[in-house]
Amino acid sequence: MQTKPALDELFERRLTFPDFAPQERLARLVGLDDHKDRLSKILGLLVNPAGLEAWAQKHHPDAKGLLKHVLRRPPLVILAGDVGSGKTELAETIGDAVARQQKIEITLFPLSLANRGQGRVGEMTQLLSAAFDYAVEAALKLKGSNGRARGAVILLVDEADALAQSRESAQMHHEDRAGVNAFIRGIDRFATEQLPGAVIMCTNRLGALDPAVKRRAAEILAFERPNDVQRHAVLHSALHALGFNAKQIDELVTATGKKKGNHGFTFSDLTQRLLPAIVLDAYPSRSVTATRATEIALQMQPTPPFEENKS
Ligand SMILES: Nc1ncnc2c1ncn2[C@@H]1O[C@H](COP(=O)(O)OP(=O)(O)OP(=O)(O)O)[C@@H](O)[C@H]1O
Ligand SMILES: [Mg+2]
Repeated sequence: MQTKPALDELFERRLTFPDFAPQERLARLVGLDDHKDRLSKILGLLVNPAGLEAWAQKHHPDAKGLLKHVLRRPPLVILAGDVGSGKTELAETIGDAVARQQKIEITLFPLSLANRGQGRVGEMTQLLSAAFDYAVEAALKLKGSNGRARGAVILLVDEADALAQSRESAQMHHEDRAGVNAFIRGIDRFATEQLPGAVIMCTNRLGALDPAVKRRAAEILAFERPNDVQRHAVLHSALHALGFNAKQIDELVTATGKKKGNHGFTFSDLTQRLLPAIVLDAYPSRSVTATRATEIALQMQPTPPFEENKS
């Protein structure tokens, strides 16, 4: 049996909130206000149930029975959907908003399962069990005696497609099944111990997600490609300082939209491919022009959507 991975090996980049960098990253996310709002409320209650009790005391003093339904929701939120749509970015930074609202310190334990599950036998199971061990241990230390925690923990299980099963084979690999079971056990530990903490899971494959995992989600938030208004917001905020006028930005919005044969640009196509390409095209000797920017956009192929049935 392999040895349990060390804390620093498993979570190379633990983040503590509140902090300026994640606050800025969160603020830069466009068109996700509703998701931000829902996610921060759910996480806020999971890390600080006393908040809801205080609210009820004020507005509905006899509503104890109703509160139970809200407070007993499993401590899991799933962010699911298209590639490059802000799932990881939101998951990594939302803790900042929650920490500020609840006035407590929150630590994020980020674990990515990318390319895991095809590795050594039992690797994913072992990783997940170890990740939950560390997160539970940290959360136990923060549990308050009066229902108000001293701090809280968010465990992020990113790129969790390995926890889904392919559509064609209802039968999962034995190894993958063991990984799913380790995940479910972890969630249940968080829930039964009523720890100040929550688990966020990101996946491209909602359709293929294990039903037992899905059932445990307090909420499933869907992520899609940006519409015209959202693409406009990203492009405008980046390009108006270069002197692009409204018509020129609208042209780019159209050039990056859905067309025959493609699905339109993802958020990450805009921020990580198109905008850098526009800048590098002009660098080092020319200025950026709107005409060139549109040409570049029209030549660029958006990332194909994630296909559920390709495993
Ligand atoms: N809503 C958004 N507003 C602004 N920029 C965004 C948004 N969503 C994504 N981006 C940009 O795209 C980059 C990639 O986003 P992110 O890593 O969160 O995608 P993802 O949904 O996790 O994709 P994948 O499924 O491929 O992991 C971000 O760093 C950011 O620059
Ligand atoms: Mg991601």
